[in-house]
Amino acid sequence: MTYRIAVLPGDGIGPEIMPAAQRVLSEVGDFEFHEYAIGAAALRARGLPLPPDTVSGCRESDAVLLGAVGTGVQPTDPAAPRAEQGLLELRSVLGLFANLRPVRPLPALRAASPLRSAYVDGVDLLVVRELTGGLYFGDRGRSGAGARQRAHDTCQYTVAEIERVARVAFELARRRAAARGRPPLLASVDKANALETSRLWREVVTRLAAHEYPDVTVEHVLVDTAAMLLVTAPARFDVLLTENMFGDILSDEAAALAGSLGLLSSASLPALPHPGRPVPGSLFEPVHGSAPDIAGKGIASPLGMILSAALLLRHGLGLEAEADAVEGAVERAVGVGLRTHDLGGTDDTEAATRAVLSALSSSPGRRPE
Ligand code: IPM
Ligand code: MG
Repeated sequence: MTYRIAVLPGDGIGPEIMPAAQRVLSEVGDFEFHEYAIGAAALRARGLPLPPDTVSGCRESDAVLLGAVGTGVQPTDPAAPRAEQGLLELRSVLGLFANLRPVRPLPALRAASPLRSAYVDGVDLLVVRELTGGLYFGDRGRSGAGARQRAHDTCQYTVAEIERVARVAFELARRRAAARGRPPLLASVDKANALETSRLWREVVTRLAAHEYPDVTVEHVLVDTAAMLLVTAPARFDVLLTENMFGDILSDEAAALAGSLGLLSSASLPALPHPGRPVPGSLFEPVHGSAPDIAGKGIASPLGMILSAALLLRHGLGLEAEADAVEGAVERAVGVGLRTHDLGGTDDTEAATRAVLSALSSSPGRRPE
């Protein structure tokens, strides 16, 4: 079977790390890659951050692989199109409401974490971030002028939007618990002491827990407390469910636990994933972003991109064994000394890619018949 993958390298280090994921994928299966423009690169070439053929190309593919979007510089004219709009629009038009960001520090990298090992030991969590609602997509605008000029963004959630992403989190909490031999645990993060959307969020999660997931232990954690607990007691979390904006912030914080944001991958899905079954039309991207400060130097870590390709194999195509093989190869490569610049080492993008490919060539999950 040949899979068709839409490749969106985007901006900054995106085009530098994308080939690493393509090379790794080609080691474990048959892929046809079709490249499309997004972000600032698309703005420069086509005048739009998300050209229509990018959307149709994504729709015609089995899965979408994205590098990064953004230049690090926001336009001074508030009306000018922004690179990030391309990514937000794409998430919206593809209906990618569930964003999974797994955080599991590699044993070999405990020393790279800013936290002492005693805190990082046992950290294995999954952030489930709502991705197509909330402040990012609410009514917004500006009015007035001078000191009276005002701007607003609004946060809205419907019961249906909360239910569908909460179900993904509940189901994954159950599955992770079964795989790890422990009781299912879900922390739902909100700001119910201040926000109406958060009060609705909490009501919906409480009702789902009682009616559909009585076996899952649910705790409701205020977002400020969650931010503190992620650095004082991160191992107490398993699945963290939260709305779009809180999830953006907490997932970067959680990622730092792993030693570097450069290692984190994400899956953005339009439906609940089932083991061994594909979720067509999903998008996979590293969490780190375009890193304009190191772009063009060939030193960016490709590991978050490669691990996003592993999530593409698992959730996008239902290829569990191949996903395990790629994740295992990254872990072994790091285990025998691969250290990219973000981890204090000297391995550049090419050296890191080769180290993973070489670890992969000795793994059992290669080229299934
Ligand atoms: C992320 C990024 C994006 C977001 C930006 C680039 C719009 O920070 O994927 O976490 O805020 O969702
Ligand atoms: Mg972010």
